[in-house]
Amino acid sequence: MQGRRILLVIGGGIAAYNTLELIRLLRGRGCAVDVVMTEAAGAFVTPLSVSALAGSRVYRDLFDLTDEAEMGHIQLSRAADLVVVAPATADLMARMAGGHANDLATTVLMATDKRVLIAPAMNVRMWDHPATQRNLRTLEGDGILVVGPDSGDMACGEYGPGRLAEPPAILAAIERTLSAGPLRGRRILVTSGPTHEPIDPVRYIANRSSGAHGTAIARVFSVLGAEVGFVTGPATEARPNAAEIVEVETAAEMAAAVAAALPAEAAICAAAVADWHVIDAATRKIKKTPAGTPPTLRFGENPDILKTLATHPTQRPPLVIGFAAETDDVVAKATAKRARKGCDWILANDVRPETGIMGGRENAITRITDQGAEPWPRMTKEAAAGKLAHLIAEALGGAQP
Ligand code: C5P
Repeated sequence: MQGRRILLVIGGGIAAYNTLELIRLLRGRGCAVDVVMTEAAGAFVTPLSVSALAGSRVYRDLFDLTDEAEMGHIQLSRAADLVVVAPATADLMARMAGGHANDLATTVLMATDKRVLIAPAMNVRMWDHPATQRNLRTLEGDGILVVGPDSGDMACGEYGPGRLAEPPAILAAIERTLSAGPLRGRRILVTSGPTHEPIDPVRYIANRSSGAHGTAIARVFSVLGAEVGFVTGPATEARPNAAEIVEVETAAEMAAAVAAALPAEAAICAAAVADWHVIDAATRKIKKTPAGTPPTLRFGENPDILKTLATHPTQRPPLVIGFAAETDDVVAKATAKRARKGCDWILANDVRPETGIMGGRENAITRITDQGAEPWPRMTKEAAAGKLAHLIAEALGGAQP
């Protein structure tokens, strides 16, 4: 923890006074602490007491020009090793989940490229409210880490979940996040999204992949400390934070970008790569002919990126992982695919419409390895990405020093 820098965002709740203790603990561990307070936080703790404990100035106003001259909000958000929000109030969580940037706190949270840990604290009914629970799921899906809340007596006289986690527990979560990401220092390549194969300058052949799965994987892996190389086709899903992102359009471009991103310790091919491209795509828009004859398209096979990686003569990543979406004979087909592609694991999904998996929040994966088929229970795509990360860390031999 010595020499690490924490950006602490204090939200406006009664638990704000507990963050004074958290600052003291962090300073005791040798951390530098920059503090941003929301306007409402100022009703619970004074900037003067916070600044005295933190040993640095407290930032409050987005439009404070002195702040911009000394340290802009972008720089403030990036100088930290970790951003901690405590207490994360219902309102602050809602604004984070909605992507608002209407004060300094939410602006630094939007601008940061670092991991974010929130410690929620609010009245029990506010915590249980469907809106807060929905926002929590959104934030977790965005790769934001959560500590607490605890259950117990609340300042408002009620009892239940909603108490800020104790400062030593928040400190422990910070220490874990900073030092013990299971993929810390690992370079992992992730392909994601569809590809677009041009027919002419205005038309293309594509598929319905949103990139949700690959993006969830990249987000979770970054949070767990991996250096993620993210090669994505034109996906509709928002790009993950804290990843090296290469945008491509065609399968051929994706293959080249993947080759350029090597070496990597593991490669996860989650992209839905088109199997074919149009040979000699027209350089001008194809027009209707007076005779009304439709054009004939000739197709050529695209490079199989997964197979190329898995059979690479010199730079094969030690762990190569592919996906299989099947509607029948899932295990048999995925096992055959593993052999055909030469990869180490295949993560197979049963995508029959009645499973609700395609386009849904959850997944039911069967992992195929040289040991056979291992069915995983149904879980969210983020939870599946977390499980995958831990298995990869284990296969690669634990975290890097
Ligand atoms: O061959 P199929 O498309 O069913 O295999 C799916 C797996 O292979 C996925 O992991 C996908 O990302 C990968 N793949 C690839 N390059 C291709 C086709 C599929 O990397 N051209």
